[in-house]
This record gives sequence, structure tokens and C-alpha cells, in this order.
Amino acid sequence: MSIAVNTKKDVFLLSTKSTSYAFGVDDRGLIRHLYWGKKLDFVEELELPQLTEVSTNDPVFEVTKEEFPVHGGLRYKDHCLKVTFADGTRELVYQYCGYDLEEGEGLEELTVHLRDEHYEFFMDLHYKLYPEYDLMERSVVVSNQTAEPIQVEKLHSAQFHIPYENLNFSNVHGHWGAEQQRFTQKLSYGKVVIENRRGISSHNHNPYFILDRDATETSGDVYFGALKLTGNFSGVVEQTPYGETLVQMGINSHDCLIELKPGESFEAPGIICGYSASGFETMSHNLHRFARERIMRGGLRPVLYNSWEATEFHVNSRDQIKLAQKASELGAELFVLDDGWFGERHSTQNGLGDWYVNEGKFPNGLEELIGEVKNLGMMFGIWVEPEMVNPKAQLYQDHPDWIYHYETRVSDTSRVQYVLNVTKPEVRDFIYDMLDNLLTRYDIDYIKWDANRPISQTGPQRDIWYKHIQTVYDIVRELKKKHPQVLFEACASGGGRIDYGILGIFDDFWTSDNTDAYDRLYIQDSYSRIYPIKAMRAWVTDCPNFLSGRVIPLSFRYHSAMLGSLGVGCNILKFTPEEVELSQRMISLYKEIRPVIQEGDFYRLENTSANRYFLYEYLKEGQGVVFAFLPQSQVGHRSTTLRLRGLEEGANYTLHTSNGDITKSGAYLMYHGLEVKLTGDYASAIVRFEKNQ
Ligand code: GLA
Repeated sequence: MSIAVNTKKDVFLLSTKSTSYAFGVDDRGLIRHLYWGKKLDFVEELELPQLTEVSTNDPVFEVTKEEFPVHGGLRYKDHCLKVTFADGTRELVYQYCGYDLEEGEGLEELTVHLRDEHYEFFMDLHYKLYPEYDLMERSVVVSNQTAEPIQVEKLHSAQFHIPYENLNFSNVHGHWGAEQQRFTQKLSYGKVVIENRRGISSHNHNPYFILDRDATETSGDVYFGALKLTGNFSGVVEQTPYGETLVQMGINSHDCLIELKPGESFEAPGIICGYSASGFETMSHNLHRFARERIMRGGLRPVLYNSWEATEFHVNSRDQIKLAQKASELGAELFVLDDGWFGERHSTQNGLGDWYVNEGKFPNGLEELIGEVKNLGMMFGIWVEPEMVNPKAQLYQDHPDWIYHYETRVSDTSRVQYVLNVTKPEVRDFIYDMLDNLLTRYDIDYIKWDANRPISQTGPQRDIWYKHIQTVYDIVRELKKKHPQVLFEACASGGGRIDYGILGIFDDFWTSDNTDAYDRLYIQDSYSRIYPIKAMRAWVTDCPNFLSGRVIPLSFRYHSAMLGSLGVGCNILKFTPEEVELSQRMISLYKEIRPVIQEGDFYRLENTSANRYFLYEYLKEGQGVVFAFLPQSQVGHRSTTLRLRGLEEGANYTLHTSNGDITKSGAYLMYHGLEVKLTGDYASAIVRFEKNQ
């Protein structure tokens, strides 16, 4: 058992393979944080220090390291929970009333029970431990057992105490076409807030925190946590005047009110969190392995072809069949028909909501295309945007009240579309039935589920921001029960829905509409810190790139996309014989190295050169792949030293370079390294290696 309890002192020590987390209950019944860091062995050693106030102006609650601070009393820092009782009382006073321990497969769970001193209002703090991944998941369940409704005005899933000041805080900023732009800032006194208020979570910030003490990839303390929520989240990081740094994360309280009727409970989204004493790489490895083995559907992801950038809305059976034939010739395993196949969908102006096959474009139905795709031995995928409707669509004409709206206001359109109130049972059923019919009628293996605008005019119900995405999750979960073989891709105008809430319910992320192979190196590098490689969809697309205007050699474009789950989005009918041959070679190579890429450990290798090399390594059971990119040479004569990681020092490895094989020991390759020099702009290389028997 990895959870040790000192019942005399009410102290809990939660340990994973190499980390520990501790808290205890004091004589007033406060749940107080004690420790988070390297592993401790003895719960008996932990003491709850006596609390003394700093001054009458700095009450004792301000220095109390509470696990789950609530609103009330002399507490002035951010709280995790604020409720209003039916009589207008807005203060919570909790009492500790015991704990439960549960053990499951590779999981142990501690639940700490709290209740309000006066009202029948309960708070259960959950700590799920995943010892072999060095991870823990925290969440809270609140429950109203009074006879009146209770309004939950704020609910953050957990608070974390980091016992240091001047930490580095990292997250990403960005927008459509520029998701996952990493930033790191030195914290000082005051707060940093990251959040989303749009209902679509992750174009701008992403729901996670990384706090480090000048860590590198391989050294230093890193504290991290990722929230399981796709939608309006907020995260607050505060360096307090009392010598510590606090982090909270959870549902954004902006415009949100959750009402708990008598007898109702509510579970806040979990935060998967951990501590690494050896830098960012350990953090990524633990999260990646956990995601692959405990969250995601197993199996390798197919190489896909998607026609969006080639044809946009101008799809038809004849041309799509030609593309499918070519895609199959190149080696693609999955053909995805994107936007434009349904209703009067010829541009963004119309069609969304009218999910019948457009006869003009597909006179013989979708069967013709799907039949051909299947004959070619490929899987078939299709694009949908089920949460949306165009004002001109028949669905909107028939059900104008299905969209989010206020009776006295005009709802905004964005990309010429409204958002459907999916939380209405009839809308939810419509979406489920539409997709169920599609999946039942046609032989479909893959759904690309898109959502191309933020939500607005959410109507009188203030829990919509949360319920909307929960309904989306529910629909997909339900569909998967009936159609278990279908893979779902989470797309929201590119990378708008990348988080641990949606991962596992959906199988792939569309990482970004920005398919420029150079921009993607930055996007993918940041993505890889928290999210698994297997879910990272990356396509090779045409040049000049539609967004950047850049022209990049096809081999570099392939290499960049091969860093994740490979796809092709070019107008392949225009490929020259050389491009066809190169594509065939790259796709076939990708299939060979795919288990290592999608299921291996991923290393962001150090670049030692004045030239900006991007160096990545993948390693799985003695099989390895290294990618090197030099987008632009700035200091002509400078090479870089490639130092591999994760090898066995005493074992020998053979690298298959373009200049012949090199065999060296793991120690040599990791510490001495090999000189690598790429020349010219947009130079790139892949080197495979393996451990010698
Ligand atoms: C979004 C997606 C694209 C494509 C278009 C179709 O922008 O991110 O990949 O599917 O919608 O309209």
C-alpha cells in the first residue's frame, strides 16, 4: 500500500515510486498540507507544526497550508470553494469526519471526508495514486444533503503548495494557427492567472501548470498538474508574502453558477499531478506513459490522408476517389473526407446542421467513395461539426430555439454559425442520432469532430459552460459503446481542444491548423511536454504553406510530421513522380518506426550549437529513432553535438547514418556524443538505431 496513515496524529503520507505527498488534520479539524517532493519512508516522522499568526493583520489562515481552502472566516487568499446556502450564508466551516482507502488495479485512492459544521453539506477530497507513473490525481466531490438548494459559486479542484519562491511558471499562449506557444515567466509576489472563457479550451492557454526551480530537461525540481477539463478553466498561481507558491486549478467561476438541488452531488474535474526531481523529461515521460497505458485506446494510429487543404469545401465523389487512389498508392491507411460533403455546404455560409449527403457532390451516395476506399484497403473517416448550425440551414429554420440565446437578444454568429444548446435533451438526441445513423449506415472508422467558434449567449442557465462539454463527452462515450471500433479526433479550429479532459474519450488531437513544418516544430515541442505523441496529429501539406507562405522541402515536411501521428494533407494529384516516390519512401519508413514514435519514450535533446538545431529521440525496448532539423543555418561552420539519452551505459548501439553504420557504447553516445552537421536551410535527417544483441 502506498498510502500510509498515522492514525494517532491523523497524518497521511501518499507515496509513488519516487515521490511523496503528505498532509494531516490539526486539532481544529483543518486539513493541512505538509509535504510534496522526493520520497519519504516514515509517516511517523511527519508533524503538524503549531500555527501562530504573523500579526493580527495576517491571520493564522493566511499562513495555514490548507489542502482545500474554502471561503469563510479570516481567509483572504484565493479559496477553492465558495457556496451560498439557501438562507444567504456564504461562509463554509468544515469539519474533518474520517477517511476511506480503496485499492484497485495499479491505483490506490484515499478519500478524506469533510462536512460543514452546521449544514448537511459534504466535501470529499479524493487522492488517486498511480505509483508506477509517479502521478496522483486530485479532485473533490461536493454534496448537498440539506432540504434546500445550494449555489456553488466557485469550485477549484485542488490547491497545491510549493515550498519555494521565485519559481518559473510555464504554460502556452497563442491563438488559432499559433497554438502551443510556450512561455516561461519568473514568478514574484502577486498572482498569475491563466484561463479560458470561450467554452473551447486551449487555443490561448492550456489547462495545466508547470513550476520549476531553474530545471532543465534532465535536472531540477518540477511540479506539474494537468486539469481534466475541456472548456472554461482557470488556474491561479500565487507567490504569497509568506514564503510559498500556491496553485489552484478548476472550473472557471466566470459567469458560472452550479446549483445543487437537495440530494445532489457534483464532482469537480480531476487534476493529474506530479513532482519530478530530474527535470522536464521525467515529467513528460510519466505523463506520456500514463496517457498511453491508462487513458488512451491502445493500438497504433493509422497514417491518414485528409483532403481539406487540397479541396476545401469543393468535394465530390469523383475527385475524392481520385485522391483516395493516390493516397493509397502513397501508403496511407485512412482516408478522411473533410468539410463540405453534406447539406448545402459549399462554403462557411450554409450546411451545418443539415447532415444529409449532398446529392450533387455525391450522386451515388457516400457508398461509392467509401466502397472505393475500402477496396483500396484503407479505412474511411469523415468530418462533422455537430455542435453547430448555420442560420441558413434547414435545421435552424425548423428549430430556431435550439441555439444558445437570450429571448431579448440577437445571438452572435462566428464563422457564420450559431452554437447549439447541446444540453437540451432534444438537441443532444438529435446529435447522437445523427452520428449513430451515420456510423450505422456507412462503414466509417474515424470521426473528425470539429468545433469552429467560441460559445456566446449561453442563456439563463449559468452552468452551461461546464455542461456543454460534459454533454459532448457523453455523446461520444455513448457512441463508442455502440461503435467501439471508431476512432474520434478532437479538432476545434485546429488545437482548440487539447487537454486531459477530452483525451481518452477522443483518441487523437488535431494539433493545429498551422501545418507549416517549421512552425510545427515549436508547436509540437511544447505540446510534447504534457501530451502524448500518439495523439499528436501532424500532416504534410503543400507549399507555399497557406498560412506562412513558406516553401520548405518535402523531406523536411515529412520529417516534421513524422514526429507525431503522420498524416498527409497535400493535393497529391499534383505530385510529381519524384514527390510520389519520396512520399512512398517516407510513409513506408514511418510505418516501420511507428511503434517507437507512437509508443516509445520521447526525448527533447539538447542542442549545443549556435545554430538552432531541433533534436529529438524516441526509444522503445532498445529500438531508437533520432530526428535532426536545422531550419536555418546562421553560423555556417557550426555543427552540434548529438547526445542521446535513456541508453544503457554498458550496451552497444548501432546507428544507421547516411554515411554508414556507427557502433558505440551507450555511455559514449550519451556523454561524449556524436558531431552532427546539417547544411543549408530546412535541412533534416532521420537516423535509426538499435541496441546490439
Ligand atoms: C477547421 C479545422 C480544419 C478543417 C476546417 C473545415 O478549421 O481545423 O482542419 O476541418 O475546419 O471547415
